[in-house]
Amino acid sequence: MALSQRLWWQDGVIYQIYPRSFQDANGDGVGDLPGIASRLDYLAQLGIAAIWISPFYPSPMADFGYDVADYTGVDPIFGTMADFDRLIAAAHAKSLKLIIDFVPNHTSDQHPWFLESRASRDNPKRDWYIWRDPAPDGGAPNNWTSNFGGSAWEWDTTTSQYYLHSFLPQQPDLNWRNPEVKAAIFAAMRFWLDKGVDGFRMDVLWLLIKDDQFRSNPQNPDWTPGSNSFGSTLPLYTSDRPETHAIVREMRELMNGYPERVLIGEIYLPLTRLVTYYGPDPNTTEGRGADLPFNFHLIQTAWNAEKIATLIRNYESLLPPGAWPNWVLGNHDQPRLATRVGQGQEHVAAMLLLTLRGTPTMYYGDELGMPNAQISPDEVQDPAEKRQPGIGMGRDPERSPMLWDESPGAGFTTGTPWLPFVPDHAALSVAAESARGNSLLALYRRLLDLRRDRPALHAGDVTDVAAEKGVLRYIRGWESGKRLQILLNLTGEPVQTPAERGRILLTTLMDGAGADVDGTMLLEAGEGVLLELT
Ligand code: NOJ
Repeated sequence: MALSQRLWWQDGVIYQIYPRSFQDANGDGVGDLPGIASRLDYLAQLGIAAIWISPFYPSPMADFGYDVADYTGVDPIFGTMADFDRLIAAAHAKSLKLIIDFVPNHTSDQHPWFLESRASRDNPKRDWYIWRDPAPDGGAPNNWTSNFGGSAWEWDTTTSQYYLHSFLPQQPDLNWRNPEVKAAIFAAMRFWLDKGVDGFRMDVLWLLIKDDQFRSNPQNPDWTPGSNSFGSTLPLYTSDRPETHAIVREMRELMNGYPERVLIGEIYLPLTRLVTYYGPDPNTTEGRGADLPFNFHLIQTAWNAEKIATLIRNYESLLPPGAWPNWVLGNHDQPRLATRVGQGQEHVAAMLLLTLRGTPTMYYGDELGMPNAQISPDEVQDPAEKRQPGIGMGRDPERSPMLWDESPGAGFTTGTPWLPFVPDHAALSVAAESARGNSLLALYRRLLDLRRDRPALHAGDVTDVAAEKGVLRYIRGWESGKRLQILLNLTGEPVQTPAERGRILLTTLMDGAGADVDGTMLLEAGEGVLLELT
């Protein structure tokens, strides 16, 4: 494929913003849209192509915005629709794309659709949600469990039936078998596309359809009592149902009416299932599904060179023709990257994410090396933690506010932040790291520059993926251009490793550029090197 045929979401890097935690413009301790607008220069200079903003719709905030009460509005805590319009215009003026989160699986229980649906059994919107009679014993209709633990069924006294909620009881599941639901959601998608948004990140795309016979899920023999009770069964009848694919294709078809929009799917599935969400033939208009079914496998794989080499090879071999890969290292639902990979590995992780083949998605603050925040029991905000306390379900640690400077509010707020800052953060802010030539932020900037400049990195192929003694290595190449070898020491020890013949372009220690390498090189603990092959 010629470079000119490539699309922005293939070549560029996506940056996720959790809006409550990025920048507070009005001093209430919660981030907002004007706050994001005021930080666009930082984002443009960082060198990313697009921002994805987690939900900012009107919401009772039971799940901090993933409980939507109006698909075409802005919650006052985040600003107004005029603020959104200003934000998108300002982003586009800086050549930044704007992707919004969309939550099609469920609404808030305060959404007018649900208020109607629960009002009576013969309400015209009754069938917009999933209502069932009790089982013969009077209990829940079947054994389906909520992702946040406990039954997925909530008893409703007004109409004496149960409704389904894959997440909180305040997040009733829409009935995607009802064509009126589809039409209403598609209308909301058009509303935002007409405003010029550049794509959607679709929440829990693989969960949209549930078994039409409501069969109970099989027990999970590997479940450990005391862990998330969601795992006590295997989600055979509640996830990845065959009928989901037609909906994904229809979403994509709708978006074809708008040029160059991207459809991203949040999908936690094994690789063999994940790749089916690209659609039966991603090369054709009719066969195209999600453009980027989010690949979370780097998050789920142990931080081990041999295992990651196997993962890369497997993923690459499973991608259908015409499918473009993608990689994610962190998001608002997963422990912070810096905490997960451990101190001394953040730099090599950055080089991995930004040199693999496929669109990388970064999570705000990971470019600073922000670790998990420490949340005491009285500071807990996340409903996932409140519903099953003390078993590690909480997502507050990875949602701590962005660190802009060393002022008391970290440049994030003039008020009291809604979540505590991460511990010992003096050296971690944008201001502090911008002043250090070899900081993690400086490395991200350099990697993002290189990735933009070099077709081998943003568009090229990946070959010779291997691992030895804890060092991961692969080669990126583009047509007749110079090939690059990437060598990543994922261990805490120095390792002497085989290397191609070439010249050092960049090391994660930000030194040594220009030196020649021939056949072998010594990598420091946690060091990564980008070689230009000669
Ligand atoms: C996935 C989102 O990423 C998560 O934050 C949310 O709680 C659930 N979907 C429910 O919408």
